[in-house]
Amino acid sequence: MTNSFINEIKNILDQKYVLIEEVDKAPYQTDWRKRFTGKAQAVVLPGASDEVAQIVKLCAANNVSIVPQGGHTGFCGGATPDNIGNQIIMNFKRMNQIREIDVANQTITLEAGCILQAVQEEAANYGFLFPLSLGAEGSCMIGGNLATNAGGTNVLRYGNARDLCLGLEVVTASGDIWDGMKDLRKDNTGYDLRDLFVGSEGTLGIITAAVMKLYPLPISQWTTLVATDNIASTIALLNLFQKRATSLLTGFEMMTQESLDLNEKHFPQMANPLQGNLPYTVLIELSDHESETHVRQLLETILEEAFEAQLISDAVIASNLSQANTFWQMREHITLAQAEEGANLKHDITIPLSFLDSFISETDQLMRERFPGVRIINFGHLGDGNLHYNIAPPLGIDPRFFNETNEKPIRELVYGQVERCKGSISAEHGVGQLKLDGLRAHKGEVAHELMKTLKRALDPQNILNPNKVVSI
Ligand code: FAD
Ligand code: MLT
Ligand code: ZN
Repeated sequence: MTNSFINEIKNILDQKYVLIEEVDKAPYQTDWRKRFTGKAQAVVLPGASDEVAQIVKLCAANNVSIVPQGGHTGFCGGATPDNIGNQIIMNFKRMNQIREIDVANQTITLEAGCILQAVQEEAANYGFLFPLSLGAEGSCMIGGNLATNAGGTNVLRYGNARDLCLGLEVVTASGDIWDGMKDLRKDNTGYDLRDLFVGSEGTLGIITAAVMKLYPLPISQWTTLVATDNIASTIALLNLFQKRATSLLTGFEMMTQESLDLNEKHFPQMANPLQGNLPYTVLIELSDHESETHVRQLLETILEEAFEAQLISDAVIASNLSQANTFWQMREHITLAQAEEGANLKHDITIPLSFLDSFISETDQLMRERFPGVRIINFGHLGDGNLHYNIAPPLGIDPRFFNETNEKPIRELVYGQVERCKGSISAEHGVGQLKLDGLRAHKGEVAHELMKTLKRALDPQNILNPNKVVSI
């Protein structure tokens, strides 16, 4: 059954790009983790910015709200519609053109639907590194990366999506196209609209294109896995690498024994090459623009210092690129192993490094006292103080363990500790619908009201991804 609103969309887009049958809409209505499912009246697939603008105008006229969507890999339900069935999903997969690589300016101009991995590959074809890198890179899209201000594994050297962005094209809630496609590294001309839209999760505007920074491809990268006994020595190790390798340090990822055990359970080929019961395994990557010998020697020297200072108990250096890739795969597979394992509660938090030891020891202890048997699956981008503090039900216990009696108090416990340590309840995954309720308390009244004021000002009709991030 179609209605006049849908017919009007079909005047803008070819009807094959307006999905209204349940079977066609279904893949867009459930997120990657299968944690959020909603119901849209249609999924629209625009092919150009002016089509996006026309659809937004039409939605405004009909009071229909829009859920922008990239690869639908986000963890907070931001790209999933509500259950009422009146919203439309606007998916960007057709807008996947790389418009330009500017070699002199070291920038790449992209449409919002470009798959992250395709961008990395195209940059590499021109001898450049596009440093944004995350486990979902084979399916997440630049628009989604910018809308969530994605982080990933290279943040400690190159920053997150916001740091990599120079310019944006955005369709506003009134259906105007804001051309902010500047490729300038300096531009102090009043309020920074670009930075406002980045990280706004589709609630303030719809990103249709972007200009992003590129970097020279390193000549050589060396990757090592090391074993540490505790968080204090892991942080001391990070500080040693920061001091001795400075900007050559491009990855510092921490994995606990429990997270690697889970990996091995579901992906035996992803076993840790370091043997024994190791509280922490750390993946460290150095990238160099000088020579292979230079970086290899530097890595070996730092590791020797670390052994002497008793910061590490074991280490293995990847002997070639393929082994380095295997180390990275092991790290990235933890998320997949968690998905295979079933229900688990994800917490994506940042803690100042000086508080991290106390955060982990206190939270672990309280968690085990209050919820006996739960499994704590910790890993994360330790170089950024970003911990993925995840809770799985006790072994053999029904996944419905995470019901009203358990989920809320577990989250409250973790977030209470985050507040004690002056951390953040969302380091890189965003807020979406998952953390909507907790945001007011976390941000504080003043910040929360300012956010609502911005939302009302930029989207007075509340048609852009309503009830995500803030409710007005
Ligand atoms: P979606 O999930 O489709 O959307 C995310 C949000 O952005 C939604 O609110 C949506 O409405 C909005 N949005 C999407 N496109 C637009 C647009 N064009 N304009 C305006 N708003 C838009 N995240 C990290 O930060 N670091 C990681 O290391 C990381 N690793 C991951 C590993 C795996 C295996 C998976 C499945 C996910 C991982 N993520 C990670 C989470 C996720 O991949 C990122 O949040 C990613 O940036 C989302 O991109 P997407 O295209 O899938 O966006
Ligand atoms: C990661 O660091 O691998 C991602 O943020 C995904 C996750 O938290 O599972
Ligand atoms: Zn992460």
